Amino acid sequence: MNVPRYFALIPAAGVGARMQLGSPKQYAMLAGKPMLQHVMETFARASHITHTYVVVSAADVYVDDLPFIAGTTVLRCGGATRRESVMNGLAAIAAEVSAEDWMLVHDAARPGLTVPLIEQLIAALKDDAVGGLLALPVVDTLKRANGQGRVDATVSRDALWAAQTPQMFRHATLLQALQQADAVTDEASAMEALGLQPKLVEGHARNFKVTLPQDLLLAELYLKGRYEDNTPI
Ligand code: CTP
Ligand code: MG
Repeated sequence: MNVPRYFALIPAAGVGARMQLGSPKQYAMLAGKPMLQHVMETFARASHITHTYVVVSAADVYVDDLPFIAGTTVLRCGGATRRESVMNGLAAIAAEVSAEDWMLVHDAARPGLTVPLIEQLIAALKDDAVGGLLALPVVDTLKRANGQGRVDATVSRDALWAAQTPQMFRHATLLQALQQADAVTDEASAMEALGLQPKLVEGHARNFKVTLPQDLLLAELYLKGRYEDNTPI
């Protein structure tokens, strides 16, 4: 059997409704570059990654303004949901990858990802039967709300993790899992629905998902800090 390779797939076909910019948030400028460009460059610098695929919507009028990045291909096959965008992307590259190759699916909206985080994920999962994801143990005390915005109960945070991306699974199983899944918001949920147990690999706060207007400042601080501190993340 051939040694499995590693490919990145970046879903970038969302509209960014919660960011309220009037244009998709993946093109918002952060530390001098569009958010999506930061993510593409990070994967291009990761030596393990054979090739990176970016999934945008067919109507995208912004992606052509990004600079050419070697080893990166844009696919104009985004769908109505994140799951559909990932599924369409995986189907579009089926002839270019092997069933056992690893796919690292990463949100365009997480520009804080670093090469060391990619390397940690790959090191933790390369011999794994299932695959897994970056995630963070929950640190806040959790409350369940009743219908009136009051606390119904305090929920134990023991054993709770917040999922991040990349989520790393083998191409054929992941495509099959997503095709069979209903309304999942990440790849791991689709794998779980097949009865599999993805491995949790500790990520980093800087890899948070840029979602609301107030997130842009923090994302920019992390991106600028990348070049100023020596933290190997
Ligand atoms: N995404 C996608 N196709 C969709 C919806 C989302 O490829 N139909 C991508 C987004 O571009 C993003 C990632 O999935 O990189 C995570 O989604 P999210 O943060 O929810 O982004 P949006 O859907 O764009 O934002 P919102 O939900 O606020 O509209
Ligand atoms: Mg969304």
